[in-house]
This record gives sequence, structure tokens and C-alpha cells, in this order.
Amino acid sequence: MALRNIVKKGDDVLLKNCREVKDFNPRLHKLIDDMRETLLDSGGVGLAAPQVGVLRRVVLVLDTKVEPNEIIELINPEIIETEGEQEGPEGCLSVPGVWGIVKRPMRVKVRAQNRFGETFEVEGEELTARAFCHEIDHLSGVLFETHVSRFLSQEEMEALYAENEEE
Ligand code: CO
Repeated sequence: MALRNIVKKGDDVLLKNCREVKDFNPRLHKLIDDMRETLLDSGGVGLAAPQVGVLRRVVLVLDTKVEPNEIIELINPEIIETEGEQEGPEGCLSVPGVWGIVKRPMRVKVRAQNRFGETFEVEGEELTARAFCHEIDHLSGVLFETHVSRFLSQEEMEALYAENEEE
């Protein structure tokens, strides 16, 4: 496994459509394993392949509801059901130092394939639902800022960071 560089806003790779994964081969597994390491190192809750410069439909989401946290691997994911609504602060590893209020569904059901090409469905709520939506957006070149109703001020961001450190 190896850490990969996280692409930052300004790089066109973040604005492109990702291609479907068709070969569930060792190369894909290496990409996923590297993304797992990169996600854990980053302290974020999700990572999409374009964020490491790869235009493939691959997403990882950290499930923080289970201890120890598990990483959900989603290949060719699609949102098939949503329910309810939540509004809260959101940021992105590719857009450092920027946070904004984004409205997302409260519950999201995703259909995807695992690293061996087997189809499965997974449901998430709250932070996990938010992360599913945010990361799957990356696969169509959509950054969270598109959905922001209000950007947080410097003071609000500092309060948010302090809150997270207390946990
Ligand atoms: Co992001």
C-alpha cells in the first residue's frame, strides 16, 4: 500500500466524469488499498478516485458508527433511494480551509459493486448519508461548494475544529 497525493481544487481532474470500472483486477485492488491508506491518513470521512487523480467510479466512505471504524468500498455506486433531509457543515479534502452549509438527504441507499464485482446495497444515515452523496458527486465532477447555501466564517470553522477535537 502507498499513500497517494490528494488533488486540490484548481486541477481539472476534479471536474471530469469518471469511467465505469469493468475490470476487477489487481490494479483496481491496488488503487483501493492505496485509497484506504490515504483516507485513514487524511482524517476525512470519504475519498473518491478522482481525488487521487484517477477517473474511475470508485469511492470509499468511513463508517464512523461502528468501532473500530470500517471503510465501505463502493465501485460503480448509484444512489437508488433517499429519505428525509439534513442540513449541516461540510468540507472536502480537495478544498482545504473551506466549509459550508449543505442540505443532504438524511438517509441514502446505494447500490454498488465490491472489489470483486459483486453487486450489493448499503444504507447510510446522517454523516454516512452525507458522505455517500458528497463522494458520489465527485464521480461526476461535482464539488460540494455547488450545493453550499452559506459558507462558514473563520470563527465558525475554528469552533467546528475545536468541537471535533474534543470528541
Ligand atoms: Co470531497
